[in-house]
Amino acid sequence: MNVIAPPLAIDGPTLTIRKFRRERLTLDQLVRIGTISPEGRTLLAIIGRVRCNVLISGGTGSGKTTLLNCLTGYIEPDERVITCEDSAELQLQQPHVVRLETRPPNLEGEGEITMRDLVKNCLRMRPDRIIVGEVRGPEAFDLLQAMNTGHDGSMGTLHSNSPRECLSRLESMILMGGYNLPGKTIREMITSSVDIIVQASRMRDGSRKITHVTEVVGVEGDVVTLQDLFVYDMFGEDANGRISGRHRSTGIARPYFYDKARYFGEDKRLTEILGAGEVLDEHGRALGERLAQS
Ligand SMILES: Nc1ncnc2c1ncn2[C@@H]1O[C@H](COP(=O)(O)OP(=O)(O)O)[C@@H](O)[C@H]1O
Ligand SMILES: [Mg+2]
Repeated sequence: MNVIAPPLAIDGPTLTIRKFRRERLTLDQLVRIGTISPEGRTLLAIIGRVRCNVLISGGTGSGKTTLLNCLTGYIEPDERVITCEDSAELQLQQPHVVRLETRPPNLEGEGEITMRDLVKNCLRMRPDRIIVGEVRGPEAFDLLQAMNTGHDGSMGTLHSNSPRECLSRLESMILMGGYNLPGKTIREMITSSVDIIVQASRMRDGSRKITHVTEVVGVEGDVVTLQDLFVYDMFGEDANGRISGRHRSTGIARPYFYDKARYFGEDKRLTEILGAGEVLDEHGRALGERLAQS
């Protein structure tokens, strides 16, 4: 809840109430409303289960927190999970969850507990996985460190508009921490920590789509190499202004996280989904062209 009064609010006192849905959307519901296809849902389920390190990227209100919450549904009940948030929104169902929340400074400007303090502290709490509600500052460094040092399956959301931009935002957040690290070192750190970036988008018609499930592959020269595993192709808009398009795998049957999947016995399912490499058929192409013209 927020109240702002004159002279700051020019036309009079204003009260704003932001109300959260009590029940979070589930992945099955996301399939029903077209945010992701059934194959994409299975892919996300595997990614969540086999302990990939995941960043969920997207704009404000694109459904990042909702997605993060869905992904945590695939964490095994015997894993110890610690969540760090600015305001507790996640609803994990596992028994071994410890929830931490940051604290703003008091009126005298004292007593602030930052996200970075929380992430650092939770490393001393023997977590299997660390979940950071929203990464927006120097805690990015500590989260990557955690991902890199035996806390496989850690996750967080980050505000950005594409998987590529997600990397550069991450890089500048690490620099905010005051580390004087060369860009190349930071990029190598990102590559060895983050496995998957899931991109969420709010489309022009108000619908939300998962537009990319992308793998962070390596560093070549000065550039981090990304590999799309699953994407959304937009054909255009129909007469009512609704977006049309479809999700498809890009045909990479053996992603870099294949070994993790095999360890958990998910390799067959993974290859089935990704290897399908559904190329647009004639019908899809014709529909796309027609919509683009109209
Ligand atoms: N796939 C979706 N389709 C429709 N509405 C969604 C979807 N995902 C989330 N929402 C709704 O959008 C709003 C913002 O979602 P949230 O996950 O908090 O976004 P973010 O964390 O990106 O700001 C919520 O009211 C949520 O219920
Ligand atoms: Mg959010």
